[in-house]
Amino acid sequence: MFSAILLEKNDAGVTAGVRAMEESSLPEAANPVVMSVSYSTVNYKDALAITNRGPVVRKWPMIPGIDGAGMVLESSHPRWSVGDAVVLNGFGVGETHWGCLAQCARLNGNWLIPLPQTLTARDAMAIGTAGYTAMLSVLALEDAGVAPGDDPVLVTGASGGVGSFSTALLAARGYRVAASTGKASEKPYLTQLGASEIVDRETLAVAGKALQKERYAAVIDSVGSHTLANACAQTRYGGVIAACGLAQGMDFPASVAPFILRAVRLFGIDSVMAPIALRERAWAELGKAMTSDTLQVIAPTTVSLAGALNTAHALMEGRVRGRVVVDLNQ
Ligand SMILES: NC(=O)c1ccc[n+]([C@@H]2O[C@H](COP(=O)([O-])OP(=O)(O)OC[C@H]3O[C@@H](n4cnc5c(N)ncnc54)[C@H](OP(=O)(O)O)[C@@H]3O)[C@@H](O)[C@H]2O)c1
Repeated sequence: MFSAILLEKNDAGVTAGVRAMEESSLPEAANPVVMSVSYSTVNYKDALAITNRGPVVRKWPMIPGIDGAGMVLESSHPRWSVGDAVVLNGFGVGETHWGCLAQCARLNGNWLIPLPQTLTARDAMAIGTAGYTAMLSVLALEDAGVAPGDDPVLVTGASGGVGSFSTALLAARGYRVAASTGKASEKPYLTQLGASEIVDRETLAVAGKALQKERYAAVIDSVGSHTLANACAQTRYGGVIAACGLAQGMDFPASVAPFILRAVRLFGIDSVMAPIALRERAWAELGKAMTSDTLQVIAPTTVSLAGALNTAHALMEGRVRGRVVVDLNQ
């Protein structure tokens, strides 16, 4: 038997609860690896699934949890042996395939990467998809030629998971970071992560002109909607934007002016189906960049499976700073 959060759909709606499950109930997977999950986390997508606020879950019943870190218990995959320490991010886990808010998961071995040697399983879940997406975004900017310089990089949704890691990673690499937040009370936190200026998110959240004062060399945006449109309008000539989220909205009410008059480039970031080589590159960089001090600042809180249910609601209500780790043995 193992414990898991189970999401069930019935006539009354969707229920979420901690349940005792039989290992035999785990769904089949190609190239199967059974993983003992020691830590997971609550991402924005997990919170949407648990609170049923977005169409994340595609099959019912579902165990949520798009991230997991733990150890291989059984393997039919040539790359993995019993006892290997592994990490899972995305690939539809927690959406179409039972996920890692569970003590046990049966996964396709092709979806796994090795836990970087410098990180513990808890560290990896403090980072989770949010930190890995922040790293993918930083790599996209740098691959496009962005380097530390005079103009700052704008990070939106800065006190959230992706935003916190984007701020910390960019600052550690020598960038000046302008952190946009809706919470004035988070200024000390963002300054501690390395932000050199704080931007009131209200200045970006409403419709603005197609071209505005050139302020930023680059942008990591986890918010979308008017915020992304204004970020494009404030990016300097030749600048680069990594669009990775939709916390404000999925719409993009923008003008082509920044792209055709200022040669601004807009890159999309997807963590879910990113190829293994890119994941391993991002996680290797995270393994080098992330100190336990930074992880403790961003993800000081560890909860049980039952606590993950409360965390999902708090996250949807904007009451979570940084990240929350789930200990499957708590
Ligand atoms: N592309 C990918 O593969 C990928 C991977 C991971 C996450 N994501 C997406 O990235 C986004 C952020 O994820 P996360 O885990 O960082 O979530 P999160 O921890 O909830 O952070 C989101 C942050 O956005 C800001 N925000 C929330 N509502 C807003 C609104 N209405 N208008 C403007 N800003 C708002 C808040 O920051 P402030 O209070 O500081 O303003 C909030 O902390 C989500 O949309 C998620 O789905 C995408």
